[in-house]
Amino acid sequence: WIILVAFFCLPLKFVDVQAGLISYDGHEVIRTYPADQEQMQMLGKLRENFDFWSEPKIGGPTDIRVGGNRKTMLRNFLKQKGIKYDVYISDLQDRISREREQLKRSNTMDWTSYHSASDINMWLESLAFNYPDIATVYDIGTSTEGRPIRLIHIGIPRTSGPLKQGYWIDGGMHAREWVGPAVATWVINELVTNSDQYQDMLTEIDFYIVPIVNVDGYEYSRTKDRLWRKTRSNHKSRAGCLGVDPNRNFDYFWGGEGTSSDKCSEIYKGPTPFSEPETAAMRDYITKISGKTVNWVTYIALHSYAQMILTPWGYETNLYPEDYAELKQVADEAASALTACYGTHYDVGAAGTILYPAAGASDDWSKGSGYFRLVYTFEVRDTGRYGFLLPADQIIPTAIETWAALKVFGRHMTEKK
Ligand code: ARG
Ligand code: ZN
Repeated sequence: WIILVAFFCLPLKFVDVQAGLISYDGHEVIRTYPADQEQMQMLGKLRENFDFWSEPKIGGPTDIRVGGNRKTMLRNFLKQKGIKYDVYISDLQDRISREREQLKRSNTMDWTSYHSASDINMWLESLAFNYPDIATVYDIGTSTEGRPIRLIHIGIPRTSGPLKQGYWIDGGMHAREWVGPAVATWVINELVTNSDQYQDMLTEIDFYIVPIVNVDGYEYSRTKDRLWRKTRSNHKSRAGCLGVDPNRNFDYFWGGEGTSSDKCSEIYKGPTPFSEPETAAMRDYITKISGKTVNWVTYIALHSYAQMILTPWGYETNLYPEDYAELKQVADEAASALTACYGTHYDVGAAGTILYPAAGASDDWSKGSGYFRLVYTFEVRDTGRYGFLLPADQIIPTAIETWAALKVFGRHMTEKK
């Protein structure tokens, strides 16, 4: 009997392990307003060693999380450089704790809470099982810690005629951006369970959706460190730092502006391009089927937060792809469709121009390698009120408005034909 009690008590112990949770007591989010190019460049220099919640952009806001003695350091720096700032979030740990209380333990899928990677992966599998005619699940790789990187392929099969057009969507490249996977799974559910509403799109287009690219980081942000961004690979840093920024790890101007060789940096580019199993899996799958089972057209990366649709190029300022006019025009149309839902305002522009440049990102590789034509990074809700800690009751409205924008690209693809 005692053994039985001890057995049932075990799970409690596991909950206790959460004492190993990283605390952000005393940390705050400083909102800065770089006034011009020069101030933005100075902020950009801090990017390597501070935790930026949003990219430096002229006029701001650019949010930086800081704690301990670095708080005074940062304030002095900002004062010295004449960069305007205010304390935007002062009770960060409080907010993290409150969010944790709401994380409900359920293994049935819904969009009123954020779910674990294993719940999402199981749900994907059961969805494909229940809708075998239009949905198939593939594991395109295995993460550093051994988790499957799961993709769902959605479309009405075509037995003859030209290859179907490919529409790729990924979420969860950055671990703490939880709303990305939530929006991606919402879109998957919408396409699969309401497929009769999307016959035109699904006969012409095949969707390939990876809701959680950085699956180890995502789990780590749920269980250990809410603000984790990178992967969880070990590249033998002397200081013991783990992880690579997967959105600096793609092989297109890898190691350029807005990246770091410091293994402890939040924007560490990795030892080599595609050093991470997660980014390598994307590359391998995309290149493998290109021109064979699909003609890639659209690439979308779902990130948060900023409320922006970003086009290439992202690795340099004032640099535009030759079809920028088309990219911009379609994105403007998508942004208006999005705004029409709830009035949410979005900015549209080239990533490296409206934000501080960052090289080696998935969008630039998708465009630069020539695999995709319509390439965008979405920075979804919000603009910093909750930032990465976006309340779960905003998942559904965020998904609905994002889907309104994503459908515009779909329509553009089928009309252009
Ligand atoms: N916040 C994203 C990141 O830091 C922005 C990426 C935009 N694309 C780019 N090529 N810079 O990864
Ligand atoms: Zn991101």
